[in-house]
Amino acid sequence: MSGPQLFRPITVGGLTLENRIVIAPMCQYSAQDGCMNDWHQIHLGQLALSGAALLTIEATAVVPEGRITYGDVGLWDDATEAAMARVLESIRRWSGMPIAIQLAHAGRKASTDLPWKGGAQLAPDHANGWQTVAPSAASFASGEAPPTALDRNGLARIRDAFAEAARRSARLGIDAVQLHGAHGYLLHEFLSPLSNQRDDEYGGSLENRMRFPLEVFDAVRAAFPNDRGVSMRVSGTDWVDGGWDVESTIAFAQALEARGCAAIHVSSGGLDPRQDIPVGPNYQVPLARAVKQACGMPVIAVGLITDPEQAEAIVGTGDADMIALARTILYDPRWPWHAAAQLGGQVKAPPQYLRSQPRRFKDLFGGE
Ligand SMILES: Cc1cc2nc3c(=O)[nH]c(=O)nc-3n(C[C@H](O)[C@H](O)[C@H](O)COP(=O)(O)O)c2cc1C
Repeated sequence: MSGPQLFRPITVGGLTLENRIVIAPMCQYSAQDGCMNDWHQIHLGQLALSGAALLTIEATAVVPEGRITYGDVGLWDDATEAAMARVLESIRRWSGMPIAIQLAHAGRKASTDLPWKGGAQLAPDHANGWQTVAPSAASFASGEAPPTALDRNGLARIRDAFAEAARRSARLGIDAVQLHGAHGYLLHEFLSPLSNQRDDEYGGSLENRMRFPLEVFDAVRAAFPNDRGVSMRVSGTDWVDGGWDVESTIAFAQALEARGCAAIHVSSGGLDPRQDIPVGPNYQVPLARAVKQACGMPVIAVGLITDPEQAEAIVGTGDADMIALARTILYDPRWPWHAAAQLGGQVKAPPQYLRSQPRRFKDLFGGE
């Protein structure tokens, strides 16, 4: 019964996970016309051998104009679905790790250059750019081309695209869907009063600002098989006075839970360049803890979690049910192995690698 909490199984949305370590979604900006390729196979493939409990596919656009960059992965037609199917088939042949997908629309933060080319907005008339859309015609940063405010038809089209991408995800055998409601992208833009200046039923009060993200959740929940989970990633705060905050996040989490949300993943920021983020180890954990104390569904904490003892403390003290890793697991793709070794837990290793178990960690890979 003893042993590290980080390596105790948990069931989330009908899926039993072997431990509490989740691989966070990470855009690779390396797709062509939304199609995954061999980079995604290499990248996701190595992470699928890491010993984490769940692999989350990067922010995947539900329509082409919902991509952050022209290199983003999409899931909006048969070609993007077939490309993803090829990558998944290869990974699944060699790894049993469950796979989730983050479905996304970048809203007014779409149409930018690749991060390693500076990441600036690309104007609608640029060869690799397009006209962005958002709740209101207010740009992210001054000097940027403003988004077009979505009308009723535009909202319905995007909601339906999320549902269609969820159906494609189900067909691909993906184990869980996460909706991207964080980091200043479309759903977050509806939530925050700083980006949502609408005067119809989708703007104004908290209830109105939550309406479109909740409609998208309901549509995706209805489109994805009942026995597989749909979760939400949120920004717990905008880190700007007068913006989205932790109290609103709790209200949103409770509304999601009442609709059958499987889990909530608490990140922060990304909506407003004025954000003042107290970056440091665990900097977002207090947000996860506040949500955890106010709702019953599993909560995932993320952000500068780098050390196994640190991760064990987050899960062990009940601040969150799971932890997610992004930069940490890119830097050290065997982090879960090293964490299990350090904490006295066990991980699954592929049979091809069993001989790598260090002699002093006799049960690391679960014995014979
Ligand atoms: C290369 C990279 C790509 C990312 N792409 C996404 C993404 O697609 N969706 C998302 O919600 N967050 C994305 N993030 C944010 C991470 O998921 C994570 O929340 C953040 O990096 C903090 O965790 P960390 O300190 O372990 O990196 C990305 C981060 C990195 C480093």
